[in-house]
Amino acid sequence: LISGPVLGLEASCDETAAALLAPDGSILAEAVRSQLAEHTPYGGVVPEIAARAHLAHLPALATQVMAEAGVKPADLGGVAATAGPGLIGGLIVGASFGKGMAIAHNLPFLGINHLEGHALTARLPGLVPGGVAFPYLLLLLSGGHCQCVAVEGLGRYRRLGSTLDDAVGEAFDKSAKLMGLPWPGGPALEKLAASGDPKRYSLPRPMLGRPGCDFSFSGLKTAVAQAIPKLVTEQDRADLASAFQHVVAAVLADRARHALAMLPAATAMVVAGGVAANQGVRAALAAEAARAGLPLIAPPIRLCTDNAVMIAWAGIERLRAGLADPLELAPRPRWPL
Ligand code: KG4
Ligand code: ZN
Repeated sequence: LISGPVLGLEASCDETAAALLAPDGSILAEAVRSQLAEHTPYGGVVPEIAARAHLAHLPALATQVMAEAGVKPADLGGVAATAGPGLIGGLIVGASFGKGMAIAHNLPFLGINHLEGHALTARLPGLVPGGVAFPYLLLLLSGGHCQCVAVEGLGRYRRLGSTLDDAVGEAFDKSAKLMGLPWPGGPALEKLAASGDPKRYSLPRPMLGRPGCDFSFSGLKTAVAQAIPKLVTEQDRADLASAFQHVVAAVLADRARHALAMLPAATAMVVAGGVAANQGVRAALAAEAARAGLPLIAPPIRLCTDNAVMIAWAGIERLRAGLADPLELAPRPRWPL
């Protein structure tokens, strides 16, 4: 059905990525270039700088993965590019590059929803023997998104809950910044937390026990801000970081339990997004999944954070279902699942 390898392109935020997957979903080559160095001086992602960096680096990454796999453009079975949601400049760069290749070589083009990419990663063959069956619960925990999603089939995604204010990664980043840690704060905060006592400071646990599975993190951030002036020693800082991480993990586990109750047919709990890299968060979610008798599926970190493997794979799933997109497809900065 699919005539050759599928090229995936990702340029929706601050990672430029290309990947080549065989029609059966095996990964032939993958490459990611982070824009961390460009954005760090500004303490966050600057949209125009991101778009220009995607423009400068995406063609070389695409060429690189094709060369590594020894595949010529004319032999591709399709081109899949992230078409939203995300920063519009980068989306235009990625989608236009993908359409250009599709026109030049007469290939099917797929404009992929980035969130669908995260949602379907767990179905990559090779990740779980036999593959994860629908329906499953997806916890999307990144810097831009924080949602519980029922993944019921290809194109059938039901949002069970989402954040009322900050995304969980944003909460990590903002609290880390308050604590004087470098951006992006999540990994730095986890490192600091490792030598801390999670019980020394008591922080609020927003939404804990509330019905449904929405999230809220702004009150927690405020509590961290209020605790900061009282910090004296390095141990104090580590203890606060540890308390923060502990509370976030507990809140996520509580929300996940409620989400599972809303999807009794779930075959698995799946995590995606940069925060899924956090070991404390993973452990809390694994315990929650085990309690429900389900596996926790946490893809390797490089497939949890933004990448093009997930975009190519979503493209393959869509091509298998006969769902190519017209070249008129416009990128969408906002595009709920
Ligand atoms: O999925 P991602 O790479 O990018 C998007 O936001 O789409 O997620 C990045 C977020 C950032 O907020 C970062 O601080 C957070 O994930 N993050 C972490 C860890 N690694 C990355 N948060 C907590 N602990 C970590 N180890
Ligand atoms: Zn993402």
